[in-house]
Amino acid sequence: MWNSYKVLGIETSCDETAAAVISDDILLSNIIFSQTIHSKYGGVVPELASRSHQKNIISIISRALNEAGINKKEIDGIAVTRGPGLMGSLLVGLSFAQALSISFGIPCIGVNHLEAHIWAAAVEDKGIKPPFISLLISGGHTQLIYVKEFSVYKTLGRTRDDACGEAFDKVAKLLGLGYPGGQKIDNLAKKGNTNYHRFPKLGPKGNNYDFSFSGIKTAVLYYLDSIPEETKIEHINDICASFQISIVEVLVAKTFKALKDTGCRRLVLAGGVAANSMLIEKMKERASEEKIKLFYPSPILCTDNAGMVAYAGMKYLKKGVSSEMGIKPEPMLNI
Ligand code: KG4
Ligand code: ZN
Repeated sequence: MWNSYKVLGIETSCDETAAAVISDDILLSNIIFSQTIHSKYGGVVPELASRSHQKNIISIISRALNEAGINKKEIDGIAVTRGPGLMGSLLVGLSFAQALSISFGIPCIGVNHLEAHIWAAAVEDKGIKPPFISLLISGGHTQLIYVKEFSVYKTLGRTRDDACGEAFDKVAKLLGLGYPGGQKIDNLAKKGNTNYHRFPKLGPKGNNYDFSFSGIKTAVLYYLDSIPEETKIEHINDICASFQISIVEVLVAKTFKALKDTGCRRLVLAGGVAANSMLIEKMKERASEEKIKLFYPSPILCTDNAGMVAYAGMKYLKKGVSSEMGIKPEPMLNI
């Protein structure tokens, strides 16, 4: 039995080529290459994403090993995202990881990208202990999950249409801010008035933990059509702030309902949208009122990264779990 594990993590599920090295629970390196080629198309082009992963994966892995200051022979296992994500993109990371695993004679662990996101905050904060409620909000996913323990999850609610980050990206496109737009809306909203325009309350109605974000995008579209171009330019900060608060309010309300109903006292945020400054501020306020312990990852661990993949893989490896050789990408994998 090893005393100390070193795991190389590889993430290529969408448009980030990422590699990281973790030694037990200490992150030694976390390298992310964000593909910018997609911005001119207003969204991720799958074929371009897989080509870019193929072009960059070797140099990103080399950088992760160099920055960690370790030799490839010291690695005990390779953790790689097996899904969900884009088929071609997943295939690049998985094929590479399995080839390395054969040549080094070490185990390969196929990791669920969503599970990796759930534990991203735990990479930095060792105080995170289950049970907790995870709010996973990214460009592809919006889920409220009850985390009983590592690898034991119950999804309480999810989006019925667009993902939360998708709503940010689509509204950013309507505002001419480019792709991806979440961070840009966040920045502009800091200087805006959240009460400038009241967008309709977000559905779905009823006593559930589900979300729906497609209505707000349409509401923003109709609103922008109804105002002169000069107003749009002059009040872009206010429009961003008004849109953002309506998303944040529904996320806070549903999450705290889940905390109350389950009796959980800990909340962990995850995914790209968890970097949103207004969300963090409102979650902090409510958590302090209700004496809930709130955890959220630093921005580099919110977005797609391999540090979180390495962390989840390391936990499985320590439990003696690894994947069969020849595992296939699972683009629709869920939790
Ligand atoms: O987790 P992630 O990197 O990729 C997926 O697994 O989807 O999330 C990317 C999403 C994008 O939609 C992006 O616009 C959004 O996260 N995002 C943000 C912020 N930073 C990134 N949304 C709102 N506020 C932010 N600060
Ligand atoms: Zn993700």
